[in-house]
Amino acid sequence: MKVAVVGATGLVGTKMLQVLAERNFPVTELIPVASEKSIGKEITFKGKQYKVVSVEDAIKQKPDLALFSAGGSTSLIQAPLFAAAGITVVDNSSAWRMDPTKKLVVPEVNADVLTADDKIIANPNCSTIQMVVALKPLHDKYKIKRVVVSTYQSVTGTGVKAVDQLFNERNGIDGPKAYPYTIDLNVIPQIDVFTENGYTKEEMKMILETKKIMGDDSIRVTATTVRIPVMGGHSESVNVEFENDFDLAEVRELLSNAPGIIVTDDTANLKYPMPLDAHDKDEVFVGRIRRDETQDNTLNCWIVSDNLRKGAATNAVQIAEYLAAKNLIGQAVEA
Ligand SMILES: NC(=O)c1ccc[n+]([C@@H]2O[C@H](COP(=O)([O-])OP(=O)(O)OC[C@H]3O[C@@H](n4cnc5c(N)ncnc54)[C@H](OP(=O)(O)O)[C@@H]3O)[C@@H](O)[C@H]2O)c1
Repeated sequence: MKVAVVGATGLVGTKMLQVLAERNFPVTELIPVASEKSIGKEITFKGKQYKVVSVEDAIKQKPDLALFSAGGSTSLIQAPLFAAAGITVVDNSSAWRMDPTKKLVVPEVNADVLTADDKIIANPNCSTIQMVVALKPLHDKYKIKRVVVSTYQSVTGTGVKAVDQLFNERNGIDGPKAYPYTIDLNVIPQIDVFTENGYTKEEMKMILETKKIMGDDSIRVTATTVRIPVMGGHSESVNVEFENDFDLAEVRELLSNAPGIIVTDDTANLKYPMPLDAHDKDEVFVGRIRRDETQDNTLNCWIVSDNLRKGAATNAVQIAEYLAAKNLIGQAVEA
């Protein structure tokens, strides 16, 4: 399969190349794409060198599949051009996620919604992906009424510039800023811009995307998203109220048996998920599983995952794997 990676020089794009190679996705030819400034730059994939090309050149080379991680504005303009040429696009930006004509997919939760007519498929927001992977098996069993989530998100979620800001600050270097405040030794209770209701866009993504992926508008979600100076992944404190009562041992069993989840919950031995341990892993880690003793049918847990992997690259490649397995790639041209 000819595969274009649009945003191949970025944090997510680089991880995408790594995940494609590791999972042995059947790439016969790679087409790395980035902005004007990177054209001609060499990228190594499975021991072979490839030159970065422009989006226009990539479309001319007629890939079967394009994995996009080049930001929302690039995606809004470029993804329809790829789709019109019959190329299946899996997009990591927020551009298409809430478009009712586009599918928003986490394979463990709703891969079965995909058809050959889907030419632009949206990869959800990183903090939403890890939360729905963990909540889906519990929703199926106990039916979720309400979720209260607070996040502790890695600087890698903001891209190369943010990682540079953290390490520049740590090394006393005055460089470009991805955040309006110092991030080293600090916590910033703002991810993305504020909307009219006082929530940030990241918080609204968690609220709206959860309903769309789970296919259930009745799930009420409220979120506070926070940036912290860590690298390995995003962490979430999640409080979930169910319609029905649950048994804690059964909750642990349901989570342990669900695809893509590792339960790390042994407080006697001080075992719980942490971003340092989740770093470079594909799974979603769940721990600190306990009853909320202030309210009936309510559970507290702690969910951690590598935002560049399951939160972005791995989820996109898993979507591509599903499409390939079902022979749904590159069959129809989007009108
Ligand atoms: N980081 C995460 O955890 C995460 C998770 C989920 C989704 N995402 C989404 O994935 C996207 C990329 O994030 P990132 O963290 O990888 O950012 P990043 O490190 O800043 O990389 C951005 C990439 O996009 C390329 N690009 C920018 N403008 C372009 C254009 N006009 N045409 C073609 N390529 C262009 C850049 O190329 P140059 O190197 O040439 O500038 C670079 O390869 C964003 O939409 C982000 O919201 C990120």
